[in-house]
Amino acid sequence: MSIENKVIDESVQGEAILYPVKDKQAINGKKLYLESYGCQMNFSDSEVVASIMSNQGYETTRNVDEADIILINTCSIRENAELRVRQRLTDFKKKKDKNPDLIVGILGCMAERLKAELLEEEKLVDIVAGPDAYRDLPNLVEEVGTGQKAVNVLLSRDETYADISPVRLDQGGISAFVTIMRGCDNMCSFCVVPFTRGRERSRDPESIVNECKEIFEKGYREVTLLGQNVDSYRWNISSKGEIKDQNIPTTNFAQLMERVALLSPDLRIRFSTSHPKDMTDDVLIVMAKYENICSCIHLPVQSGDSDVLFRMNRGYTREWYLERIAAIQNIVPNCAITTDIISGFCGETEEEHKNTLSLMDLVEFDFAFMYKYSERPKTLAERRFTDDVPEDVKGRRLEEIIEKQREFALMSNKKQIGTVQKVLVEGFSKRSSDYLCGRTSRNSMVIFPKLSFQKGAYVMVRIDSCTSATLLGEATK
Ligand code: SAH
Ligand code: SF4
Ligand code: F3S
Repeated sequence: MSIENKVIDESVQGEAILYPVKDKQAINGKKLYLESYGCQMNFSDSEVVASIMSNQGYETTRNVDEADIILINTCSIRENAELRVRQRLTDFKKKKDKNPDLIVGILGCMAERLKAELLEEEKLVDIVAGPDAYRDLPNLVEEVGTGQKAVNVLLSRDETYADISPVRLDQGGISAFVTIMRGCDNMCSFCVVPFTRGRERSRDPESIVNECKEIFEKGYREVTLLGQNVDSYRWNISSKGEIKDQNIPTTNFAQLMERVALLSPDLRIRFSTSHPKDMTDDVLIVMAKYENICSCIHLPVQSGDSDVLFRMNRGYTREWYLERIAAIQNIVPNCAITTDIISGFCGETEEEHKNTLSLMDLVEFDFAFMYKYSERPKTLAERRFTDDVPEDVKGRRLEEIIEKQREFALMSNKKQIGTVQKVLVEGFSKRSSDYLCGRTSRNSMVIFPKLSFQKGAYVMVRIDSCTSATLLGEATK
């Protein structure tokens, strides 16, 4: 697949981003430095934050030393993610000690989890704002201006930021992320997200379709529809499946995706994340019907053992998962399937671990994110089970999982050799401007000679060779 199977943890890779100013008239002379960690949804939220701050006249900067305000959008998914952020906050604290006017704010999941702790006990920050409190940021900044510490960690049942047009971080880009729902109601026992992001709620389909249309008109050629569990997207349908208001049409995920697909055959659609317990055939049928919906499903399995899955409270068994894989293979032939795996969950025996390896043999995932279990405060697993798999055993099991996945990733790419793939050009290859790079529908990265092709074009490329991370080829015409 596209990227090398990750051993590193993406939630600890921070990124400072430059967002364009929305309205040059409104510039207030102050500079914002915004750094993001964690999942795509956090990066997408940072675009909302940039939009709100830009409306207040803030310009963004990539140089932290010229910032008047530093905001750090954080992740709590694993302990490492939080440790990295704490390190950054300590760096910022040193800057604050030199410049008392500097405002430092923590946003996102870690802000929600730790609430006022970071203000009161450790005095590391001036502002704490949870994922549903970003509209309040201008007020929070003002409060700090009057010498107070400012906190808003209220979670909402209905906030979706539907009316805020995010400032795209990648102006003139090809690929954009659109959040379609927030929160999660699943309560997987290892996971902190339901505590940091609150209850699940879906965004108005009109605002989603309009945003995708605008993006396409601006030149983007790919949207990724984002949610923790996109299969449970529902508009005007109650959690019990009843229609809430007879005067409003209902929309489920398959219908939403179809509406976006119909905007233009030249707009590619991706989505993340699907949940094995909720992924229905109607989603697969829509995928098969539209060429512009990419043939790629991220379906996190977490473990290949039904007892572990039960302890994880995932709501499915190994057999159920394999049946869903069979459905994908039947309905969307040649679909890439990617996953997330956790090694060393509470009580995991050697035999249970072997079941994960054997499931990998059966599915042959094209790509996987693989993690060691990291106990998170307040989760069901922390309260119910003991984190009893020793660190070295977790590590060894993870290595075995990674090793196996490496073989499957290479095999997946080798299978593409000799085929012709439709590639959406994203830009120059990192190594040479004589080459372009882009992705196939299956999300594999392809490098090929530039000739006269441009960014944003669709090019038919014959695949001639590969590494485990990339396909290499030549345009067929
Ligand atoms: N909503 C998605 C996943 C969100 S978190 C889903 O349900 O699949 C992304 C991934 O982080 C998870 O799939 C899981 O593999 C991993 N993860 C979550 N909590 C973790 C923990 N406590 N320790 C290790 N990995 C974890
Ligand atoms: Fe976490 Fe489970 Fe929700 Fe995914 S579905 S965000 S793993 S609780
Ligand atoms: Fe991390 Fe929060 Fe996303 S915990 S993975 S930033 S939802």
